[in-house]
Amino acid sequence: QNIQWFPGHMTKTKRQIQASLKLVDAVAEILDARIPLSSKNPDLQKLIQNKPKVVLLNKCDMANQTATSRWIDYYASQGITAIAVDCKSGKGLNKFAPAVNNVLSERRERLKAKGMVNPMLRIMIVGIPNVGKSSFINRVAKQNRAKVEDRPGVTRGNQWYSIAKNIEMLDTPGVLWPKFDDKIVGERLAFTGAVKDQILDTELLAVRLLDFLRSLKPADFIARFKLEDIDLDAIDSYELLNVIGKKRGMLISGGEINTERAAIMLLDEFRSGKLGRITLEMPER
Ligand code: G4P
Repeated sequence: QNIQWFPGHMTKTKRQIQASLKLVDAVAEILDARIPLSSKNPDLQKLIQNKPKVVLLNKCDMANQTATSRWIDYYASQGITAIAVDCKSGKGLNKFAPAVNNVLSERRERLKAKGMVNPMLRIMIVGIPNVGKSSFINRVAKQNRAKVEDRPGVTRGNQWYSIAKNIEMLDTPGVLWPKFDDKIVGERLAFTGAVKDQILDTELLAVRLLDFLRSLKPADFIARFKLEDIDLDAIDSYELLNVIGKKRGMLISGGEINTERAAIMLLDEFRSGKLGRITLEMPER
């Protein structure tokens, strides 16, 4: 199955982001902590070039904690500051301003050396749809009520939030396109609900998710569907979908299992974190 993304849309988005990038000194890239690879836009680095970057691993409440720590270490080994955040509860957001300060310290020093007394530095949020950009901005904006008004030199309509001393954040995020040419990436984005269900066959998607769950064997998943007696390595994923449907009493006339309903329920429960804290992608060793 191919997911279509329209090049026209992509070009327009790219131009908008390029325009906003001119206004900022750094970028905060929001990723889904459950799929840090698939929720990444592969062209972002080219767009931002050598601007400093902070990575926000959002929805960390639904990701595996050990996996998230490994991602943070991985980014650190690449010289990139990454922090885990949960924009639903606000957890981890207190680490944002210090992280921004950290990546901007060199730039601040350079400006000071040039004679600027208190240089104002700016950051913008970027990420693919549904990673939590608006949730993040709303949360951070609420904590920092004093919205900075339009001022000369700033494109009309742009609003800035003061997030720390001499640091402001653009109120509108840069929406990036996900990487759609890879089928596996498309599937993982669909698992998390980042792309709509209609794009992929629901039952097929649930079966693919079960391929992951069978190998990861999350305790919450096993307990939730009472799968203790099932050999997850031996059973086929479609058969497992039937087992799960049966356990939930999802039958259609004739005693057959309603696998479509079971698929919808499974995906729903994964997306809302009811199957446990599950990370689907780990950094390469
Ligand atoms: P976007 O601007 O990047 O498109 O994303 P947005 O903030 O709209 O967030 C997309 C969905 O993800 C929202 O759920 C939002 O509540 C949820 N979300 C954002 N951050 C987190 C997080 O850290 N943890 C969890 N568990 N969820 C998060 P929704 O179902 O679309 O809306 P609603 O549930 O808020 O009504």
